Parts: sequence; structure tokens; C-alpha cells
Amino acid sequence: MGNYTLLLLGFFFVLLCGGNEVHASHQYVQPEATKEAKQPSRTSYHFQAPKNWLNDPNSPMYYKGSYHLYYQHNPYGAVFGKTIAWGHAISYDLINWIHLNNALYPTNDFDSKSCWSGSVTILPGQKPVILYTGLDIKNQHVQNIAMPKNLSDPFFREWNKYSHNPIMMRPDGVNKDDFRDPTGNLARQIWKMEDTCR
Ligand SMILES: *[C@@H]1O[C@H](CO)[C@@H](O)[C@H](O)[C@H]1NC(C)=O
Repeated sequence: MGNYTLLLLGFFFVLLCGGNEVHASHQYVQPEATKEAKQPSRTSYHFQAPKNWLNDPNSPMYYKGSYHLYYQHNPYGAVFGKTIAWGHAISYDLINWIHLNNALYPTNDFDSKSCWSGSVTILPGQKPVILYTGLDIKNQHVQNIAMPKNLSDPFFREWNKYSHNPIMMRPDGVNKDDFRDPTGNLARQIWKMEDTCR
């Protein structure tokens, strides 16, 4: 995926969430010569996982000085797999990326078969929340949320899954395989609903 696309996506995401300003770097930075000789098929400019499969970008965002990119990632192979996690990288220029540990990994009944796509919403008080689709123990699509373990960590390396997940099950009449990839706006609506219910 192109960095420009990523930038646009990030921008739309921020627009959608009515959140912070995007401070994009407009300077074109020539990436350093990489290990092209060793890995001729590896991109040197476009984002890639350090190894193995990736698909959807999840929640590109700018937060407190760095760009975050979460993405669908198979930690175990170069093709789509049965255990999809949320890969995570940060950047200061959208060109050079620092790879961090997976932010979400299947652990509970509500996401034991995979942590599929979703988004981050910055809630009032600068609190980010991930809303994502879990492929649950019964292979159903359910919607879950997760909060940063440590709000003071600007890199949001670790996330706590909400103890009352899943927060949404598939409504009647929605196809079994069509209830996934929630957006930031939905996260805000759900948050309001939960706040109201409390
Ligand atoms: C939270 O993150 C901050 C900033 O990185 C760090 O100084 C602090 O030790 C962290 N707290 C915990 C409990 O890990």
C-alpha cells in the first residue's frame, strides 16, 4: 500500500473521528538503500511487515508526535492464515517504520480464531479505543473493544481487551460472514450507548 494512500486513509480517519490535526510531512525522504540484493522482491518504499503476511491497514493515526499503523498480520506465514493478529508499527515520517510487537493477538473466546479489522477512535480526554472484529470460538464475527494498557505510553504498545467483550453480536438478518470491520464512528456510537446504559 502506498504511503500516499496511507496518508489519505489516515486523513479520512481523522476527519471521520473529528479528532486531532494531521501533521503530515510533505518532504520527500529518499529511503536508504535497503537489503535489495538479499530480498529482491521486498519493497523498499512501501510499508511491509518485518516478515510474513499482511492485509488490511487498521487505524492509521497520528498521535502525540508519531504515526501509528496497525494492520492485519499473520505472524506464522506468508499467506493468509487461521491466526490473524494486529501488527503494529510507528513512524515519524511515514517512510521509515519502527516495528513493535503485535497489538492484538487471539486470546479469548471472543477472538480466539482471529483479531480481524477495525479502527481506533480517540475519545474525549485523548483516550484511544480499538474497536475490532473478533472471529470467535464458534467462527462468528463479533465486535470487541480494547483500551491501551498504559495511557502514558505514547506508543500504545499493549492493549487490554474489555472484560465484557463482545460488545456486539451479529443482528438477525445479517449474513454470517458480513458483520465485520467496524469504523471509528461506530466506536463513538457504542461508547455513547454504553455510557448511557451505565
Ligand atoms: C507507562 O508509560 C510511561 C511512558 O513510557 C512509563 O514511564 C511508565 O513506566 C509506564 N507505566 C507502566 C505501569 O508501565
